[in-house]
Amino acid sequence: MSDGLEGVVAAETVLSEVDGEAGRLVIRGYPVSALSGHITAEQATHLLLDGFFDDLPDAAGLAAALGRARAEVFAEVAALDDHLGALSTIEGVRALMARLADGDDLAVALRLIAAPAVFTPAVSRRKSGLQPLAPDPTLGHAADVLRMIKGQPAGPAEVDALNAYLVTVCDHGLNASTFAARVVASTLAGLTSAAVTGISALKGPLHGGAPGPVIEMLDAIGRPENARAWLEAAIDRGDRLMGFGHRVYRVRDPRADALKRAVKVLGEGSNSLPGRLAFAEAVEQAALAVLKERKPNRSLDTNVELYTALLLEALAFPPDAFTCVFAIGRVAGWIAHAREQVLGGRLIRPQSVYIGPAPLAAA
Ligand code: CMC
Repeated sequence: MSDGLEGVVAAETVLSEVDGEAGRLVIRGYPVSALSGHITAEQATHLLLDGFFDDLPDAAGLAAALGRARAEVFAEVAALDDHLGALSTIEGVRALMARLADGDDLAVALRLIAAPAVFTPAVSRRKSGLQPLAPDPTLGHAADVLRMIKGQPAGPAEVDALNAYLVTVCDHGLNASTFAARVVASTLAGLTSAAVTGISALKGPLHGGAPGPVIEMLDAIGRPENARAWLEAAIDRGDRLMGFGHRVYRVRDPRADALKRAVKVLGEGSNSLPGRLAFAEAVEQAALAVLKERKPNRSLDTNVELYTALLLEALAFPPDAFTCVFAIGRVAGWIAHAREQVLGGRLIRPQSVYIGPAPLAAA
């Protein structure tokens, strides 16, 4: 038995390869560094879905269809009542996603890919007492998300930064949420069931829930000179340092560098971001030193979440919505994996080892 299925190969995929020893992520033949900052979220979606739907249009056609899908799913926002508004942002987004009909075709897939992009701003604005804004199908996906959350058009640098983020996180091998989505897809339950499962798994702090707590950590540390003592105390309490460590990477997560680059580019037009970046870098160096000293037998390095937190904070997403923004990027990966599973895989049904009491004789 492998604890946490570590090292177990559970699927063959053409979608992405995570090489934990080399610190390399390849998405459909491209290193993540060749995609992040170079293509849009819609182009990454096309790359992932290619070959999984007979009626997939070209990249421009897919971008237009995704815009229309955003407009369609906005109808579900009418269900956003006080009850859903009182949930956390990700619980609200998940509840709205679960209202979408199940199915396996491209129209269902596009509505699901549109859903977190539309529901995240809607739930987030509602929690701030603001009216949700309807999508503008003529805008690019990232530009529309930023417009819907801010209530005003975003500048090109912000749009580029969000595209870089969404592309960087669009797929990542058999991470927990993608595996969960594939398990559900393997029962032929449908794409909505798979995506709702994916967002449920993503929500946990050991997976996609880490970047919000990264901001809490940075704010609690406050100044670079406090970092070491704060981080040592956290480890001594048995806490995990958010934004560090990974099940597969034994070296630095390549997505950390892709996102740090995106933060740097965005910071070129900002007065405050370069200082925040320098602070995060100081905390990162202190954390790596503390982890090396306190966990000498483990190879713990920076993962994707540290610079995710910095980038999404700079784009003015509230920390409570960070995991939902992760879902905006990852949902295309869940859908592609679900289709790959349905088209070529079998029901996923592993075994367990029974360690309960031996059978009792009937009285
Ligand atoms: N801070 C402190 N100690 C850590 C950390 C950390 N971030 N990560 C692992 N460890 C320690 C852990 O306590 C354990 O120590 P010991 O052997 O003394 O008990 C050892 O390293 C091995 O931990 P593990 O539980 O076997 O590691 P895992 O492969 O199950 O966990 C992880 C991977 C990502 C859940 C973990 O590193 C973690 O909790 N990190 C913090 C949360 C985080 O940043 N999550 C985002 C992950 S990247 C986004 C994604 O792709 O999902």
